[in-house]
Amino acid sequence: MTQHLAAPAAPDSGTRTDWWRDAVIYQVYPRSFADGNGDGMGDLEGIRARLPHLRDLGVDAVWLSPFYASPQADAGYDVADYRAIDPMFGTLHDADAVIRDAHALDLRIIVDLVPNHSSDRHDWFRRALADGPRSPLRERYHFRPGKGPGGELPPNDWESIFGGPAWTRTTDPDGTPGEWYLHLFAPEQPDFNWEHPAVRDEFRSILRFWLDMGVDGFRVDVAHGLVKAEGLPDIGHHDQLKLLGNDTMPFFDQDGVHDIYRSWRHVLAEYAGDRVLVAEAWTPTVERTAHYVRPDEMHQAFNFQYLGTHWDAAELRAVIDGSLAAMRPVGAPATWVLSNHDVTRHATRFANPAGLGTQLRTPGDRALGLRRARAATLLMLALPGSAYLYQGEELGLPDVTDLPDEVRQDPSFHRAQGQDGFRDGCRVPIPWAVDGPSYGFGTGGSWLPQPAGWGELSVEAQTGDPTSTLELYREALRVRRTQPGLGAGDGIEWTGAPAGVLAFRRAEFACTANTTGEPVRIVAPGRMLLASGPVDVTGAEVELPADTTVWWAV
Ligand code: GLC
Repeated sequence: MTQHLAAPAAPDSGTRTDWWRDAVIYQVYPRSFADGNGDGMGDLEGIRARLPHLRDLGVDAVWLSPFYASPQADAGYDVADYRAIDPMFGTLHDADAVIRDAHALDLRIIVDLVPNHSSDRHDWFRRALADGPRSPLRERYHFRPGKGPGGELPPNDWESIFGGPAWTRTTDPDGTPGEWYLHLFAPEQPDFNWEHPAVRDEFRSILRFWLDMGVDGFRVDVAHGLVKAEGLPDIGHHDQLKLLGNDTMPFFDQDGVHDIYRSWRHVLAEYAGDRVLVAEAWTPTVERTAHYVRPDEMHQAFNFQYLGTHWDAAELRAVIDGSLAAMRPVGAPATWVLSNHDVTRHATRFANPAGLGTQLRTPGDRALGLRRARAATLLMLALPGSAYLYQGEELGLPDVTDLPDEVRQDPSFHRAQGQDGFRDGCRVPIPWAVDGPSYGFGTGGSWLPQPAGWGELSVEAQTGDPTSTLELYREALRVRRTQPGLGAGDGIEWTGAPAGVLAFRRAEFACTANTTGEPVRIVAPGRMLLASGPVDVTGAEVELPADTTVWWAV
């Protein structure tokens, strides 16, 4: 740690300590947010220049997807050096500047930590390969001899999340076929062996490195994957991706992961301020997710059950109740999320018939999708707990569903022979300006092609237009900060409502969401604060238009 990178102060939280309990956290996907040097790739300089947009939007914190030194086999989720910035994104000085500027604007910074696997270009893995089968460095990963007479079969039947076997065979230094190594994701992402003390020590040290840099927390990638069942037992089925919701998977959600997060909590406690750990933990149930946020572990976990819920009142109510109930006993805030860099944007999911999944190639009915997306966002921001926004959703961006195969970069697209892996569609660089070579993303091009008409959705086009999605988000976040009962607490009171309508209140706030495609008349619960679409309140009754959410002061 060099002297000039002394930790900048976090925003002053005044008397508030648990800032994260109701925080709105905005995910920046660095390669697609803003390009500061005109090379077509987003970077830290670009992020720094656009921080005022995030302050004006009204979010509390920014989560940065990985910017570390990486060969980019999985868009930076393959880290070669956890303490260095990839030159395509900038330098450690740029990271320092982003953290300082964010804090000066009262924004907190959460960085992405990728502990399940490194890049195959990480120094440990390269040396482990070069040193040959007896290298002690191999014990930091999962190297095993193959099965079969010549070791030509993988050590077990596990399949990669990105398709194909979860094992790749190595070549020994003398050129003969050697051991195999485990990678739950791409072959360029070998899994660490978390039973090895050096791995545990190294990650505590990495946490300290970034805490010294002044970050306010970590989003922990694949937090459910670090510990594997002893002996790496066979699963006994093919098509394992379909089983991923099953808690018996020997590589996911093993109880041993929790010791790791307890030890990380101690590391955070060494630092002043209120810093947080956020679990990306895909588990079968919200009850299993709650284990990650027990009082001595992480602070928050993503609510992927909510993300996977259709625009349907009964389904939404069940997941909302289930999430609040699961978090209450452990004292953690519920979290809510509709979009991220791994799934089709919610404006496009809701434009398509329910049940198609979270990776789509069909644009659907865009007007319907946007109307529902705006309503879904107001519903999400009305719930108690913390909410996550994904860059561009404040512009109502749809997924880009027609990217030609040859421009796609998602490794899971290429490995699964086009069966899955349509994550590029939500990663297209976002539009800032109506015109220009990449709609204000940068002065050069854009690493994924932006569709025609992208400029009409830009920040510039939407600013000042009271009907725009951007102004809706700005207003929603402003009201959320000022209206008592919004965002806080751990429960809501459901009030009677016609079928297909969700109605609840908390303190002096009420929310009504019509998830049906027809207008519904209800008694107005109070004074209208904000609506996701045009609504006329006349007298004591109100007609809630189709797919519309309204906030009320009561
Ligand atoms: C997480 C990331 C995803 C990445 C994977 C492997 O699920 O969100 O983008 O591909 O981990 O690191």
